[in-house]
Amino acid sequence: MTKVLIAFYSRSGVTEALATAIADGARAAGAEVRLRRAREVVSAEVINSVPGWAEQAAALNAKYEAPTEADAEWADAIVFGSPTRFGSVSSELKAYIDSLGGLWFQGKLNGKAGSVFGSSSTPHGGNESTLISLYTPLAHLGLIIVPLGYADPSLFKAGTPYGASSVSFNQATPPTADDLEVARFQGKRVTTVAKALRPA
Ligand SMILES: Cc1cc2nc3c(=O)[nH]c(=O)nc-3n(C[C@H](O)[C@H](O)[C@H](O)COP(=O)(O)O)c2cc1C
Repeated sequence: MTKVLIAFYSRSGVTEALATAIADGARAAGAEVRLRRAREVVSAEVINSVPGWAEQAAALNAKYEAPTEADAEWADAIVFGSPTRFGSVSSELKAYIDSLGGLWFQGKLNGKAGSVFGSSSTPHGGNESTLISLYTPLAHLGLIIVPLGYADPSLFKAGTPYGASSVSFNQATPPTADDLEVARFQGKRVTTVAKALRPA
């Protein structure tokens, strides 16, 4: 069975919804999936200064384990997801990526499939720049980057060639049916590519 790790950060559930749709697509393609949520890295003082953050984090952490080094080693494919933070990746997801230095040093991630997804508040608020910024650590880790291109009709309605995405309008709008269709396609595509890469 092809093993897919979906490691994401989500504060208010938008990126989480994309993650679960990617998991559905991967499972439909025959994958075993681990869904993991990266944990907060800022102080309790900062978290408590933002209404609802602590409660949202506690609810999501009850649903998902934190991603570990062992999860990344286990996986044939690693799919990273993040909400946009000033046009780039969240520090919470980046902290998980940075924890993979030991595996990187041993070359243990070389040749696995890698893919990315994310969400932003506004249509031009940095969705694509966030996904492209995630391509950089994927390359350093030695992952074989799996973009979506326009390889499925869903990409002509939503998403990006770099990965699934959604625009939440300040977290008020969950991913649309079209966004979720792209996400399911991403799960299938990354599973298919990881399966093909495994013998190599
Ligand atoms: C500190 C911070 C920075 C953000 N920066 C951006 C940004 O540059 N562009 C944007 O469109 N949204 C930005 N957002 C909004 C989130 O990326 C957006 O609401 C996202 O859909 C939330 O996803 P989540 O529910 O998975 O946490 C920012 C949010 C925070 C808290």
